[in-house]
Amino acid sequence: MFVKIVCMTVAGMAILLAFDTPEERGKDLFVRRCSGCHALDTEKEGPRLRGVYGRQAASLRGFAYSDALKKVTTRWDDAGLDRWLSDPDTVAPGTDMEFRVANRDERKALIAYLKSLAGTHGGYLHVSVGRTPWSARVPLDPLCS
Ligand code: HEC
Repeated sequence: MFVKIVCMTVAGMAILLAFDTPEERGKDLFVRRCSGCHALDTEKEGPRLRGVYGRQAASLRGFAYSDALKKVTTRWDDAGLDRWLSDPDTVAPGTDMEFRVANRDERKALIAYLKSLAGTHGGYLHVSVGRTPWSARVPLDPLCS
């Protein structure tokens, strides 16, 4: 019974999220604009982007970043991603990413989408309780399928 309620709640949340939130718009833009070079969980011409929000720039082992981006040591946040997406060269002159998103609202939506993925890995939901230093990973698929 409990499991059923959890599944229904998760499904309900998914339905709510299906409305046109900035995240949904960002997801759509991501598929159209970024997915030629980026995937969420595998490296392509660009590095995988799930969890990039909050991650230190150029920090994935196994991806051959340009020397230009390797010099950037900050973590990706709203301001950093906004600058990056408007013109990657202003953040890392000489970077390998030659792509810009000129429209401010589109950048905002993309960042909202990347942010919404920050705490997720595959089918897991990260749950942390208050300020306690531990968190639990709750796999959703086995419960709900
Ligand atoms: C033409 C290919 C291409 C497109 C299109 C592209 N990227 Fe990239 N992206 C790259 C490459 C290549 C890198 C690595 C740059 C380097 O090492 O200098 C990169 C790096 C990044 C990084 C830094 C990742 C890290 O680990 O530090 C972010 C964030 C990013 N891209 C976001 C996006 C988003 C969002 C879009 C869509 C709006 C996008 N990119 C579109 C090729 C692309």
